[in-house]
Amino acid sequence: MKIRCFISALLAIASLAGLHAQQPQTSTEIPLVGNVYGRQDVTSLNGKWRYIIDQQEIGFYDYRMNESPWGFFLDAHQKSPLELVEYNFDTTDQMDIPGDWNIQDERLFFYEGTVWFRRTFDYKPQADKRMLLYFGAVNYEAVVYVNGKKQGSHVGGFTPFNFDITDALKEGQNNVIVKVDNKRHPEAIPTNIFDWWNYGGITRDVLLVPVEKTFVQDYSIQLDKKNWQHIYGWISLNKPQEGVEIEVRIPELKIAQKVVTNADGRASISFKAKPVLWCPENPKLYDVEIAKGNEVLTDEIGFRCIETQGKKILLNGKHIFLRGVSIHEEKAFSQGRAHSAEDARTLLNWAKELGCNYVRLAHYPHNEHAVREAERMGIMVWSEIPCYWTIAWENPDTYKNAERQLGDMIRRDKNRANVIIWSIANETPHSEPRDRFLSSLAKFARSLDDTRLISMAMEVTSANNYHNRLQDNMNEYVDVVSFNQYVGWYRDTQDAAKMTWEVPYDKPVIVSEFGGGAVAGWHANKNVRFSEEFQEDLYIESLKMMDKIDGLSGLSPWILKDFLSPRRPLPDVQDWFNRKGLVSNTGQRKLAFYVMQRYYEQKKAEFDAKSAKR
Ligand code: GCU
Repeated sequence: MKIRCFISALLAIASLAGLHAQQPQTSTEIPLVGNVYGRQDVTSLNGKWRYIIDQQEIGFYDYRMNESPWGFFLDAHQKSPLELVEYNFDTTDQMDIPGDWNIQDERLFFYEGTVWFRRTFDYKPQADKRMLLYFGAVNYEAVVYVNGKKQGSHVGGFTPFNFDITDALKEGQNNVIVKVDNKRHPEAIPTNIFDWWNYGGITRDVLLVPVEKTFVQDYSIQLDKKNWQHIYGWISLNKPQEGVEIEVRIPELKIAQKVVTNADGRASISFKAKPVLWCPENPKLYDVEIAKGNEVLTDEIGFRCIETQGKKILLNGKHIFLRGVSIHEEKAFSQGRAHSAEDARTLLNWAKELGCNYVRLAHYPHNEHAVREAERMGIMVWSEIPCYWTIAWENPDTYKNAERQLGDMIRRDKNRANVIIWSIANETPHSEPRDRFLSSLAKFARSLDDTRLISMAMEVTSANNYHNRLQDNMNEYVDVVSFNQYVGWYRDTQDAAKMTWEVPYDKPVIVSEFGGGAVAGWHANKNVRFSEEFQEDLYIESLKMMDKIDGLSGLSPWILKDFLSPRRPLPDVQDWFNRKGLVSNTGQRKLAFYVMQRYYEQKKAEFDAKSAKR
């Protein structure tokens, strides 16, 4: 006991004297690097990571809640039998990264708190290179260390971020240690209540990305909406360096354009071309190379024009109907956060089977692989930030968080032809502060990208029991009026036929959510809630009702697959699953799936006939 007192006294003196290694407060985070998957010599750190559950954050704070200099990020090991070290990454458990902890460790199914992760890796310095560390996403807050040196922190569970870790690296073995905290907070984005599982962890890819000291940080290459034989955009370096030559090549279009950066390190691109336009029936993508010296970035880019004309949505000038379905980012069979192209293909193939040409990726930006797989499959995307329900509208930090997540979503996917709608919110209660918050977000989104449509999923404000209006100040700021309605679930199915819908805006309309729950395999009749027949009848009646909506341009029924939610505890029926899926969490198609499939077959035939007449 005396030894422990002696040691803690020493530590206290050291701490008082400020002798310990204070972590530098500066961060090595750099602006988001575009298209990491198209860069050369990228090393994946995916695989088995060691982890320590740290419910009281003892690896970060001392017993007086000061940030400790002796935290888990030091990856300490006992050097003598006398030394006191109360953690050891070498002997802890391991889990697969990317991946949430809830499904991989049953002790963590409901856990909300901190878990530390460690990955070691070898490194050989290259004189003319810098090394970036890229995270596809960490939910919800990450503090990142390399060899015990803090690189910075990041808030937001569904968007990428990266650090220049070069100066913290040494030849040979290195380690990256991440403190992950998925606790919910009222002032966060999302706030502390939401209808999906709070999957914590390093939930997407972790990559080491070597770059030259001056490199192509990001770029945008778009089709000109006003002239489909003109492609334009910009390329930006990581620093304001003038006179750097960059070549943009699109071999199939016989394009090889050399540009030179200006004093800001940016260069505009613009050239004539006659690309085959991307569309669901022909999701044409072009190989693109962006070369700076011997550093070559490769991408696959599609060219298309999405716009509205009164109550119509036009893709490449053609009036389309968005035959969609809502999807959460949850694996098809095993639950847990989906993160791979393979996970995405399973879910997107179910959507294709349903007859979809469009998906609403709810309620947060999904992983980049999912967006790219949908692009290859000819599936248009609604992409959304988790500005969900009762956000802290008057908190400036909350707004900055929302704007950061919106900006990173757009920065990451701005070159994806299939992304046609940026959504800034879901089911937010009307108020003056909410309107200020969301209208600012809408303007911000448009300032970053004026080539896509802006929307948000609103709530119905019913004028009386059977007359529904979409009266929302935010409808001035969106291109498409979208709303969620639950006649048949949170209101009676029998009311559907009596309902009228008034959308007093000359804009296209999407019903971004509708539906009801059913336990796959439970058969009764349409008057027995949670039976497949109940859900089937709800869909039949809802579709008849929605077909009468003037300007209806798309549907994304809630939801493709049953998904885990802490708001769905009903034993033997929900068992922590939201049962509104058209497909169960074991892949069983429910009767309502086929109702929707038949409806989309008719819709497709109707719109094909229209375009044949043009
Ligand atoms: C809301 C919400 C969804 C939720 C759904 C439901 O509309 O947007 O996230 O899962 O209703 O109640 O099932």
